[in-house]
Amino acid sequence: MDIIRSVTEMRKRVVSAQAAGQTISFVPTMGFLHQGHLSLLEEGRRRGDLLVLSIFINPTQFGPGEDLDDYPRDLEQDSQLAQQAGVDIIFVPEAKAMYPPGYATYVDVEGISETLCGTSRPGHFRGVCTIVSKLFNIIQPQVAIFGNKDFQQLAVIKRMTLDMNLPVEILGLPIFREADGLAMSSRNVYLSPDQRRQALVLSQSLATAKELVAAGELDCATIIVQLKKYIDQQPDVRIDYVQICHQLTLEDQNRVDADSVLLLAVFIGKTRLIDNSFLVIKND
Ligand code: PAJ
Repeated sequence: MDIIRSVTEMRKRVVSAQAAGQTISFVPTMGFLHQGHLSLLEEGRRRGDLLVLSIFINPTQFGPGEDLDDYPRDLEQDSQLAQQAGVDIIFVPEAKAMYPPGYATYVDVEGISETLCGTSRPGHFRGVCTIVSKLFNIIQPQVAIFGNKDFQQLAVIKRMTLDMNLPVEILGLPIFREADGLAMSSRNVYLSPDQRRQALVLSQSLATAKELVAAGELDCATIIVQLKKYIDQQPDVRIDYVQICHQLTLEDQNRVDADSVLLLAVFIGKTRLIDNSFLVIKND
């Protein structure tokens, strides 16, 4: 496994892989790898001859006052995990290589970027789309693998890929959870033991909503009111949003159907966590 820091070097490796007829699979991350990331790498290993992992804490997707400076990092541990996962190349560019002086170009996806996390984190998806398209251009993967954990991010990236005719298949994989249901996230390390316990409201709210739907409650407003009441009982939890949206357009729905996704974002102390789930259990 190689760790590559320079864009030029990365490009050279891409060109020689292409010349050798190798397919490239790609998993973009901000590092501090956990089992969720590893599940993406496992699929990446199956899907490409050359598996590239990127680790880059992308400054343009963090707003003022967010956790850019505190974001956890541990390249040594990430390298070990990546090696075990069969990664061929870790691409770890420096911020000044990705955004040199004079940098002026951004990718903005309208509509679906502007709701949910886009409302509370203005500019976030512009930063995500910009870095992801830059990484796609450098690495030129046939397939790029993302997690459903960041449901809106995945929807926005699919939209961008389609709209910009990018020749890459976008794959979304299921959310990897701790044994008690908390979705794995690099940001979970910020939680105190008591906050960690309160963070279970997220997965428990998803379970409650699914039960309500299974029992015949299909009115979105009714479900949302119940969930908000439940979440508000936790002393350190502040709701950012609780919404039921169509899986493709991310528009709010009135009645639950097979396309309904429940999306949650809460602050626990200063830590912002998200989670989501489809509401209708599919039999296929
Ligand atoms: P990061 O938060 O490091 O996540 C990298 C990838 O791992 C994303 O596709 C995310 O959805 C996925 N992931 C995170 N937690 C997961 C879990 N519990 N189960 C399954 N997959 C999970 O998302 C980003 O980085 C950045 O925005 C990035 C796309 C790299 C652009 O900077």
